[in-house]
Amino acid sequence: MQPVLEVRGLRKEFPGVVALDGVDFRLLPGEVHALMGENGAGKSTLIKVLTGVHPVDGGEVLLAGGPVRITGPAQAQQVGISTVYQEVNLCPNLSVAENVFIGREPRRFGLIDWAAMRRRAAELVRDLDLDIDVGAPLNSYSLAVQQLVAIVRAVDVSAKVLILDEPTSSLDRDEVRQLFTVMRRLRDQGVAILFVSHFLDQIYEICDRMTVLRNGRLEGEYLTSELDRTRLVSRMIGAELAGLDGLGGGKRRERTAPATEPVFLQADGLTRRGAVEPYDLAVRSGEVIGLAGLLGSGRTEAARLLFGADRSDGGTLRIEGAETALRGPRDAIAHGIAFCSENRKTEGLVGELTVRENIVLALQAARGWTRPLSRTAQDGLALRWIRALDIRPANPETPVRNLSGGNQQKVLLARWLITDPKLLILDEPTRGIDIGAKAEIQKLVARLAEDGTAVLFISAELEEVLRLSHRVGVLRDRRMVAQLDNDGELTPERVMAAIASGAEQ
Ligand SMILES: Nc1ncnc2c1ncn2[C@@H]1O[C@H](COP(=O)(O)OP(=O)(O)O)[C@@H](O)[C@H]1O
Ligand SMILES: [Mg+2]
Repeated sequence: MQPVLEVRGLRKEFPGVVALDGVDFRLLPGEVHALMGENGAGKSTLIKVLTGVHPVDGGEVLLAGGPVRITGPAQAQQVGISTVYQEVNLCPNLSVAENVFIGREPRRFGLIDWAAMRRRAAELVRDLDLDIDVGAPLNSYSLAVQQLVAIVRAVDVSAKVLILDEPTSSLDRDEVRQLFTVMRRLRDQGVAILFVSHFLDQIYEICDRMTVLRNGRLEGEYLTSELDRTRLVSRMIGAELAGLDGLGGGKRRERTAPATEPVFLQADGLTRRGAVEPYDLAVRSGEVIGLAGLLGSGRTEAARLLFGADRSDGGTLRIEGAETALRGPRDAIAHGIAFCSENRKTEGLVGELTVRENIVLALQAARGWTRPLSRTAQDGLALRWIRALDIRPANPETPVRNLSGGNQQKVLLARWLITDPKLLILDEPTRGIDIGAKAEIQKLVARLAEDGTAVLFISAELEEVLRLSHRVGVLRDRRMVAQLDNDGELTPERVMAAIASGAEQ
């Protein structure tokens, strides 16, 4: 079948990021096609290229087999590619019919033919099985219905390709059903629909085929019926099942939880509206809990509540048995909680400051700036931790920006380790660092736990999560959907299955 839309070797760069790197993609008439990938994979960029929002840096776009140059949103619509965004771009106080025909009103003797406009709008709406009074002002309807009106308009303007980027994220169940009915009707009329949603249930309900992107590259194109959820998740996060088997299999040491240690921290129904659904979590001293999930699943957000970096707005937190409300990171540090953030450049280290200055920062903040650490004390601490973590160069006065990624990460760890934390939260501590430094940091985590530190370990690499954790909390769509004991039977496949299906606890 001739694709209605095809892209070949598409390339799009932003300063410092290759958002699309030689992507091929085909959309067939009369299909609903899912564009899948973790946050940052390049989905929205691809859509923005197809709708003329971004110019491309390479590659070509073909419509019905012929090359086209998409120069802007209006021109994209002229050649048959329409998008409906979550925020509907219509005029709320005009009628539904007027919105459908804005800018292309039917006319008679030079005047707008209101009757014809209403009649045609009513037909369009009826064809899609929608119960909408086209004479009523648009804003008398819910946002969900307004979105449907935008779709009706888009399809009537140019009915070949309809792009829906996360249209369902704010819809309730019935509204989603209504949208899907409309999508099916349009598909049956031959419209090609490109659909982005991070709800896997929806993908499997509505989509015929899918294209998976990973880090700006094409990972593959699949029939939905031929790729089950677990395998889809593994394609998205890039963990080949076979490869992981070899790493994870029989040789991995069982990590039994230190069940006799006291519970250091316990969260009950901890939540932050719009960021994390209520979750329960108990962490014992000496226990490593891994957090797994796709990028954007809420791992960092869940952890930030335990550090007071974000305030919770529901649920309770107990630290060493006592109910506690963390008013901010300083509170958390005073309770023995440390948080080594994912982004060592923007949230963590200060590049201009020296290794020593960076190392003492958290301790100094915890003491309060009115009680400065003496220079001798600073030198002593810095040297001790430079030695303990083998930070190179071993010179406390080197500006931190001159260090390699792995060594910077160690400086950040040192900063938190000198506060002698009882719970250490590590968010992607090994991302982007060399293999040697990575192994050292993993060893350090295991050793800290053996010495009684509780650790919350966030990583996108399942292999590493399984190697270190006693227990794995799985997040999906900002919800903790499972907590799995790492009892030696736990495999990357089972974690991926939990990410994919959201098996309840
Ligand atoms: N306007 C922009 N300027 C700079 N970088 C961008 C811009 N838009 C997207 N990016 C980057 O491009 C990559 C892909 O982003 P995006 O297409 O939004 O991914 P997705 O929609 O799959 O989550 C990310 O690294 C993102 O930070
Ligand atoms: Mg996006």
